[in-house]
This record gives sequence, C-alpha cells and structure tokens, in this order.
Amino acid sequence: MTNRLQNKHILVTGASAGFGEAIARAFAAQGAHLELWARRLDRLQALEAEIEKSSQVEVNVQQVDVRDRDQVHAAAAAVLKRDRPVDVLVNNAGLASGFDPIHEGNVDDWETMIDTNLKGLLYVTREILPTMVARNAGHVINIGSVAGYWIYPKGNVYNATKYAVRALTEAMSVDMFGTNVRISSVDPGAANTEFSQVRLRDVERANKLYEGYQPLKAEDVADAVVYVANTPPHVMITKLVLTPTAQRSPTMIDRK
Ligand SMILES: NC(=O)c1ccc[n+]([C@@H]2O[C@H](COP(=O)([O-])OP(=O)(O)OC[C@H]3O[C@@H](n4cnc5c(N)ncnc54)[C@H](OP(=O)(O)O)[C@@H]3O)[C@@H](O)[C@H]2O)c1
Repeated sequence: MTNRLQNKHILVTGASAGFGEAIARAFAAQGAHLELWARRLDRLQALEAEIEKSSQVEVNVQQVDVRDRDQVHAAAAAVLKRDRPVDVLVNNAGLASGFDPIHEGNVDDWETMIDTNLKGLLYVTREILPTMVARNAGHVINIGSVAGYWIYPKGNVYNATKYAVRALTEAMSVDMFGTNVRISSVDPGAANTEFSQVRLRDVERANKLYEGYQPLKAEDVADAVVYVANTPPHVMITKLVLTPTAQRSPTMIDRK
C-alpha cells in the first residue's frame, strides 16, 4: 500500500498508554511526525526517546489533561506555532471509571467520564479543527467504541459518552460537508490495555476479563487507525468497527 503518511504531522491524545502509545509507534513507523499528549509526562518522554532512537521523525510531548480547557488551549497553541500544520488529530484520550448499576453509580466517576471522553474531545477538536477548515485539509479520527453501538449492563454512563462520541463523529462529518476535511471513527471492542485496570481499580479482576479468548491488542487498533489515515484524500472511512473474532457484542464473548 502507498504510504501517504510520510512527513505528516499527527496529534494523538492519550498517548502514554494502550492504544495511544501504539498509535504513536505505528505513525512513526510510517515516517510521520508526532505531537503526543497525556497527563503522565514521564511515560510520554520515555516513548519520545524510544521513537526518536528508532526513527527519523520529530516527536513533541506535552503534559495535558484534556479536561482542562486552559491546558488544552496552551498545548494546542504550542502545536499550532510549529512549522507544519496538524494533518491528523486522533482523539483517543478516554476512560471508563467504575462499573456499577446506574442507581449505585459514583457521581465522581460519571463526571470524570463525561469530562474526559466527551468534553475533552470537544475542547481538543475546537482548537485544532478550525486550522483544518482554514487549510481545507486534514483528518480527525475519533476513538469510539462498540460501547457506542450497544448498551451493556453497568456500562450506563460510559455507554452514554461513547454514544455521544458516535453522534459527534457524525455531527462533525456533516458540519465538514463541502470541505476536504475528513472525519472518521475507529470503534474497537475488547482490547487488553490498561483500560479495565483503570475502570475497576483492580488489576487481578481486570486481567480476568481477558481470560479464555484472544482480545484485541493495542497494535491491532493502531493498525486500523493508520489504515484509516492512509487512505487517498478522496476516500473517507466514516466508521471502522473492529472486535476480537471471539466477540460479537459487548456481552457476547466466546471464552473457551
Ligand atoms: N481497551 C478497550 O477495550 C477499549 C475498547 C474500545 C474503546 N476504547 C477507548 O480507547 C481509548 C484509549 O483507551 P485504552 O484502551 O488505550 O486505555 P488506557 O490504556 O487506559 O489508555 C488511556 C489513555 O488515555 C489517557 N487519558 C485518560 N484520561 C486523560 C485525560 N484526562 N487527559 C489526557 N489523557 C488522558 C491516559 O493517559 P494519562 O493517564 O497519562 O493521562 C492513557 O494514555 C479510550 O477512549 C477508550 O474509551 C478502549
């Protein structure tokens, strides 16, 4: 396949772990320059050193909590000052927090998910998308989830945020009608990252969720994101939903 990502400039949020880290490596392998954001700066710096050692690409990292509008604004301003415009924004930062039925839900968990998955995505997009419209070029790739297509027990507020991400992907796309700015989502099923440890705050319980079948790896999702970004400019993948072969819905997982 033709590599159209060489020398492109990619901003990935939530790049300190899981999908975001793998997405950063996968774009770097195509020769793309990177802007990597997350709260854990030490992790970003380790990834920056690793990528810069193994490839010729430029990597910039910034400590950003996407829930904080001022931080997002300042970090975006730093990115937009560079010589190259942002070609691809990957809105990946996100999390599930807690796993309770709605009537027992922790309101702080709800706030965290809504502030990160929904408002954080909006804050970042609001900073970067205008520059794409102005250039009549660029690509926003939102990381949604199968949780944005199917409700599952105790998924409640996480489901709601990912349904909202799906709605926003569609909304962004229709608002970009008449421009060359592409809007896509990559929507994974069960993947073994730090996601379930963060959600359950219990490593042992989290690991059990991935027993008896082959979940997605972060690299599988990164491959999908690179595929979506690498299509020719006249092609827009609107949604790419991928699950483990053993998973047919959030609750249907064939465990041997
Ligand atoms: N794993 C799955 O099964 C799965 C399936 C479908 C969709 N997803 C979605 O995929 C995305 C990535 O999840 P993952 O599986 O890679 O989980 P992960 O391994 O826990 O990584 C989550 C990333 O998001 C970052 N993040 C969280 N809150 C943030 C904030 N307030 N500001 C900036 N960055 C923040 C984390 O960095 P810091 O903690 O350093 O800030 C981390 O880099 C999420 O949107 C998630 O909802 C996951």
